[in-house]
Amino acid sequence: MAEKPWVRMVTAQTPTNIAVIKYWGKRDETLILPVNDSISVTLDPAHLCTTTTVAVSSSFDQDRMWLNGKEISLSGGRFQNCLREIRARACDVEDEEKGIKIAKKDWEKLHVHIASFNNFPTAAGLASSAAGFACLVFALAKLMNAKEDNSELSAIARQGSGSACRSLFGGFVKWIMGKAEDGRDSLAVQLVDEKHWDELVIIIAVVCSRQKETSSTTGMRDSVETSLLLKHRAKEVVPKRITEMEEAIKTRDFESFAQLTCADSNQFHAVCLDTCPPIFYMNDTSHRIISCVEKWNRSEGTPQVAYTFDAGPNAVLIAHNRKAATQLLQKLLFCFPPSSDTDLNSYVIGDKSILKDAG
Ligand code: DP6
Repeated sequence: MAEKPWVRMVTAQTPTNIAVIKYWGKRDETLILPVNDSISVTLDPAHLCTTTTVAVSSSFDQDRMWLNGKEISLSGGRFQNCLREIRARACDVEDEEKGIKIAKKDWEKLHVHIASFNNFPTAAGLASSAAGFACLVFALAKLMNAKEDNSELSAIARQGSGSACRSLFGGFVKWIMGKAEDGRDSLAVQLVDEKHWDELVIIIAVVCSRQKETSSTTGMRDSVETSLLLKHRAKEVVPKRITEMEEAIKTRDFESFAQLTCADSNQFHAVCLDTCPPIFYMNDTSHRIISCVEKWNRSEGTPQVAYTFDAGPNAVLIAHNRKAATQLLQKLLFCFPPSSDTDLNSYVIGDKSILKDAG
């Protein structure tokens, strides 16, 4: 008699992260090795996160994946690299409750199904691939009983999307660019956990939720090939900023934190303009938000809010505390009233948070 088909499932939830010192540019495109270190803050999963369920079954005859309910191709190198790396680390699994036993050697023959949902717009400069690949790698590692810690898993998530490696931790996270040619030391480490600076409030002003025109991957490839400013940034500017940012985070020095965050976002967008052909991720509304924050910070004497923009027009605003966040929302509502014809249409508000294992 044929063996009864069985299925084993794991669900995980991973928040996205926003870089305060940006990653822009690869020195190795296949392994996804960056030209500089970067630092990010991990967001609250209640607002911007990916939930991924991975399943393995004796009845599956191929690997398949669905993103927000629609089947997508797994043929891309990035998915295959992550799957291969986790499969190579798979261990024996014994699920007594379900009576399932999978031997290490069986993982090579078994297939997985993956269902992933984002609770925010995909590919609109809100780092959807960061949460996506981090969650995929984390869930697969649990499913296959891989014993690697989160830093080791981050080096695998990195091969899905560079920024994904930073979403394996909560709080403030540093992606160390590493030196090894095989990328084994290019991984993420937690600088401080989410409790260290818990008065910060992060507000995301969604300027536009449409998919961006130039993907980060294409944009940074063009920048590496054509921007002189990027070379200067990676070699001279970022190493110093990383040290200063680590110190600002450690000592909760908001003034330095805000100055470094805004300067780094502006330099990243300057690199985009210095790229041939130039890349425009921000729009008029983004520029108006910058002016509004700059003006307010100057009038207060010390910065109340830091802004940063990734590869899209949406603003990530980091307020010093709840009072500053409330004032910021009032100012945004005043400058961009809901009935106005600007395309600023919603705010997502959240604290920093940690990676949650829903498995
Ligand atoms: C501007 O990680 O999306 O958000 O590695 O090619 O997948 P790939 O790029 P991705 O780039 C993110 C760029 C950024 C800055 C950052 O998150 O550090």
